[in-house]
Amino acid sequence: MEKEQNNLMETIISLAKRRGFVYQGSEVYGGLAGTWDYGPLGVALKNNIKNLWWKKFVDSREDMYGIDAAILMNSAVWKASGHVDTFSDPLVECTKCHHRFRADQLEKAGICNDCGGKTGESRQFNMMFKTQIGAVEDSSATVYLRPETAQGMFVNFKNVVDSFHPKLPFGLAQIGKAFRNEITPRDFIFRVREFEQMEMEFFLRSEDWEKYFEYWRNEMLSWIEMIGIDMDKVHELEVEGADLAHYSKRTIDFEFDFPFGRSELYGLAYRTDFDLNNHKLFYQDEGTNTKIVPHVIEPSFGVDRTLLALLLSAYKEDGSGEEARPYLAFNPSVAPVICAVSPLLKNKPELRDYAHLIYRQLKDEFGRVMWDDNGNIGKRYRRQDEIGTPWCIVIDFDTLTDNSVTIRDRDTAKQERVKKEDIVDYIKDKMN
Ligand code: GAP
Repeated sequence: MEKEQNNLMETIISLAKRRGFVYQGSEVYGGLAGTWDYGPLGVALKNNIKNLWWKKFVDSREDMYGIDAAILMNSAVWKASGHVDTFSDPLVECTKCHHRFRADQLEKAGICNDCGGKTGESRQFNMMFKTQIGAVEDSSATVYLRPETAQGMFVNFKNVVDSFHPKLPFGLAQIGKAFRNEITPRDFIFRVREFEQMEMEFFLRSEDWEKYFEYWRNEMLSWIEMIGIDMDKVHELEVEGADLAHYSKRTIDFEFDFPFGRSELYGLAYRTDFDLNNHKLFYQDEGTNTKIVPHVIEPSFGVDRTLLALLLSAYKEDGSGEEARPYLAFNPSVAPVICAVSPLLKNKPELRDYAHLIYRQLKDEFGRVMWDDNGNIGKRYRRQDEIGTPWCIVIDFDTLTDNSVTIRDRDTAKQERVKKEDIVDYIKDKMN
C-alpha cells in the first residue's frame, strides 16, 4: 500500500512535468529548493481554482469585499500581528553534516535524518523572509515578504468600512502570494517557500462566533466537494493547545490523505479580536453608537495544496499493463482544457480547414480549447486523457458530408456523433 502511494506521488510529479503543469523552479540552474514554476496547464488549472473560489466566496455573496493588498508591508504590521516574535519553527542542525531540520520532523529524536549524526540544541527560527527597502541598509529599512495574506485584510479593515459602510457580519477576501522560509520544503508543491493563499477574514460580533465557525466549516466542505477533491480522503482535525497558532482560540484543519501521509490542506480559525485589537482598529456600531472590536473567523485555503489534492484525486487508470489508460478525471469547470479539436488526418487540407473553423468557434465560446493534430488519433486521445480534457472532438471524412463530428468522452471513452451546430450546447449541457 505504501509503495503504491509513493508510486502515485512519483506518477503525478512526472506527469505534471511531462505535460506542462509544474516544473522545478530555476531548473536550468539546478533548481531552487522550495520553489516550483507552473507551466501552461498548471497556470490554467490554478486560474480555474482561483476564479471558482472568487465566484463562490466573493462574487455570488452580498457580504464579502475583495481586496488585493501589497506583498510588502510596513514592518510594524508584523510586529503587531505577533509574527516577528512568534512565527517560528524549532530548528536543529546536525553536528556532523550540518544539514538542518525542523525538530519535529526528525525521524528519530536527536538523530540526523540524512547521516545519522547527532543533532544539536533546538532553537527557534523565524520563517519570515527579510529584505531591505530603499538604498539604506539598516534595520529601519527591513521589510518582510508577507507570510500570510490575512494581514493585508486586517490593515484595510477601516478603509473598506469607510468606503462601503458594511453591516456586521461581513468579510474581506484576498488571493495572493505568501512566503515562508520553510526549514525543510518537501513533497513537491505541498510545502514550499513561495505559495498562494485564498483567504477570508469574516468580521462578526463576538457572541456569534460559534454559529459562524460552524457555517464556514460547512462552506469549506462544500467547496472541497464542488472543486472535485476526493471527500473520502478529507478529514477534520481539531487542533489542540500548543499546536494552535498564536492568534487562534479554535482551529480545525481540513486534512487530506496525501501519498506521504495525512496532512493539512486548509485551515479554519477563530482569530477572536486579536488582530484588529493589535492594530488598534474598531467598528463604529451605528445602532448603539458604540465602538466595538469585531471578532474574526478565518477560512484559509492554499492554492498549491488545492492543485496537488486535485491532481491526486483526479488521477485514474483503466486497464493494466500495456493497455493501461491513465487519465485525470477533472470536473470540466477546473479542467485546464475543456475540449480538444482534431482533424482525423493531419495532412488533409479539407479536414484541417473544417476542423479549424470548429476550433475557432469553440475557442471564442470557451477559451480553454486546444488544437491537437500531433501523432495518430490514439496518441491524441491518450495525451488529452492524461491532461484531463473532458471531450475530444474529431473531424473525419463523414463530417464533410453530414456536418457532424465525433465527440469522445474522457471517462467512458465512448463516442457520439453530434451535429456541428449543436456542439456548443452539447458541451454546455454536460458542464452544468
Ligand atoms: N492566515 C492563516 C494562515 O496562514 P496557515 O495554516 O499557516 O494559516 C493556511 O496557512 C494555508 O496556507 C494552509 O492550510 C495551506 O493550505 C497553505 N500553506 C501554508 N504553508 C504552506 C507552504 N509552506 N506551502 C504551501 N502551502 C502552504
